[in-house]
Amino acid sequence: MKALILSGGKGTRLRPLTYTGAKQLVPVANKPILWYGIEEMVAAGITDIGIIISPETGDEVQAKTGNGERFGANITYILQEQPAGLAHAVKVARPFLKDSPFVMYLGDNLIQQGDLSYFLKQFQQQHQDALILLRTVDNPSAFGVARVDQNGKVLELIEKPKVPPSNLALVGVYFFSEIIHEAITRIKPSARGELEITDAIQYLISQEKQVLAFQLGGWWLDTGKKDDLLEANRLILDTSLQTSISGEVDTQSQVIGRVKIGYGSKVINCTVRGPVIIGKDCYLENCFIGPYTSIADNSTLVDTELEHSVVLQGAKISGIHQRIIDSLIGQRAQLTLAPRRPKALRFMIGDDCQIELS
Ligand code: G1P
Repeated sequence: MKALILSGGKGTRLRPLTYTGAKQLVPVANKPILWYGIEEMVAAGITDIGIIISPETGDEVQAKTGNGERFGANITYILQEQPAGLAHAVKVARPFLKDSPFVMYLGDNLIQQGDLSYFLKQFQQQHQDALILLRTVDNPSAFGVARVDQNGKVLELIEKPKVPPSNLALVGVYFFSEIIHEAITRIKPSARGELEITDAIQYLISQEKQVLAFQLGGWWLDTGKKDDLLEANRLILDTSLQTSISGEVDTQSQVIGRVKIGYGSKVINCTVRGPVIIGKDCYLENCFIGPYTSIADNSTLVDTELEHSVVLQGAKISGIHQRIIDSLIGQRAQLTLAPRRPKALRFMIGDDCQIELS
């Protein structure tokens, strides 16, 4: 069994962060989203992992993630020159996959930990040609959607339907036997110009192949947008964070609940109410850090109140008199109160940034 994790794409919905980095490397609880997928594979016993990369962000993904040693896996990087669709990615990965069965996992998706092993077992025991996962969603038109009969058998799959036949979306995790390669040769690019894996699975269904569908019970998040990313951060901190204080916390500070503070970090006269993760070499003074906040390495926060937010590496926030919530602050971004007059707001804001003032 092999794994194919997709880590290409442009990440347009997470701009401006994705102008300078891969969306799969944006951290959730201070760990790149992509790494959760890799760890899930390894936990399910799959260590031969191919990662699809794009020319734009492939070097960064490769440099950060490495050859797999840190995960106990063997990672092969596969370049997809064009974002020509999920089925196209499988085509490009054929020399790596050979005729092995495999699980395909979209690198910006997160599913509840432990679920993968269960579905892998089902796929292997029942000798299926494909196994897909479905989940009810509020906005099915944004996904691949399944039409199922009363017994849960999949009758049809449609990619991004204008009039969705159900609210059952295709989750970004698929199990395939080698028969999928033949199906991919039979499909044509969709209206968005991509070779859709949904169409390839639909081909298998039309050929009466064994396509099993399960409804995912645990949570699933497609972290492509800010609010989904914050929700993923909340869920991971809520379910997996364990207290560990390696940095310095002075006697004036109060640390409440589950909080992790990395080596070299200093917390001075702050209230930190978990679940909160603070990376290495951060400096926090006179701050309130509220639940569901992740602060990456080398960040500085002074006279700041922050809650339910994700701060990336090297950011500086100081003197903001209002509480900051529901925010995503990019690498090395600076959010400060200027001492000079006239008292006014001064910005240097990158393309596609979103700022809400009250
Ligand atoms: C892709 C698939 C879609 C699936 C979704 C899950 O969509 O094409 O069928 O429901 O991932 O995240 P995309 O992210 O390419 O819009």
